[in-house]
Amino acid sequence: MARAVEAASVREMGGAAFAQVGLEAEGPQPAHATRLAVSHVNLYYGDHHALKDVSIEIPEREITSFIGPSGCGKSTLLRCFNRMNDYVKDCRIEGSITLDGQDIYADFNTTLLRQRVGMVFQHPNPFPMSIYDNVAYGPRGMGIKNRSELDDLVEESLRRAALWDEVKDKLKASGLSLSGGQQQRLCIARAIAVKPEVLLMDEPTSALDPISTVQVEQLAMELKRDYTLVVVTHNMQQAARISDSVAFFLLGELVEHGPTAQIFKAPRDRRTEDYLTGRFG
Ligand SMILES: Nc1ncnc2c1ncn2[C@@H]1O[C@H](COP(=O)(O)OP(=O)(O)OP(=O)(O)O)[C@@H](O)[C@H]1O
Ligand SMILES: [Mg+2]
Repeated sequence: MARAVEAASVREMGGAAFAQVGLEAEGPQPAHATRLAVSHVNLYYGDHHALKDVSIEIPEREITSFIGPSGCGKSTLLRCFNRMNDYVKDCRIEGSITLDGQDIYADFNTTLLRQRVGMVFQHPNPFPMSIYDNVAYGPRGMGIKNRSELDDLVEESLRRAALWDEVKDKLKASGLSLSGGQQQRLCIARAIAVKPEVLLMDEPTSALDPISTVQVEQLAMELKRDYTLVVVTHNMQQAARISDSVAFFLLGELVEHGPTAQIFKAPRDRRTEDYLTGRFG
């Protein structure tokens, strides 16, 4: 209900809503190269056809948001990007997904793939170890053992995750001792410590308070200078605030994908409009 009200107000306010969140309603967008290209992907969980002939291009150094009602396949597609669905029994995928032109389902080292495509989940999930070790975990796994090199990476990652000032004096404290919002920023620091190219975020703020939400949104907008971000969100105002483009999914289908202002102000498909105005979902 809250989502419907938010969505409706975004639409009714038209251009004003976008002025408020600093978006240009129209005009040329900087063209970015395609980082991930999804072509005719069908995904099945056993007999359940969860993604239906999905094709989408994800440009580098932009935020692409996935929206749509519960169960429409947003997380499923996100998990295809780093082959997390490989762990799901009876999951079968057809079609192709390329990262910088290379098919990730062909002969591709999945450890390397998950370094290049990092993920942040809905509920902050720090490892039960110190703040320092949480961030150093990935780099250590990549073979970085030198203490000062690790120190630098930990500091740089925590700074980029806008958490350094809050934790610099307690790096040995458990990651689990932090607040929810701090834990989520720690998870972002952990994800970026291995210098991925793509960062996937599945409802990264749904468990956070409004202040932490704003911090994570600001962080996402900072990070897109260097990274490609794909964010799943149920919060339409968040999608309007942070995304360069928005993809709307319904029942496993990609209904439409376009610049954020176009999707909210002038959706091409009736189903997108019905969803945004709260008529279903
Ligand atoms: N591991 C799994 N095994 C079997 N079916 C699954 C599995 N994961 C997801 N599904 C099914 O696939 C469909 C898409 O699920 P998915 O989690 O991608 O939806 P979603 O759009 O992320 O939903 P939400 O907004 O609720 O997170 C749903 O019908 C779901 O029940
Ligand atoms: Mg989901």
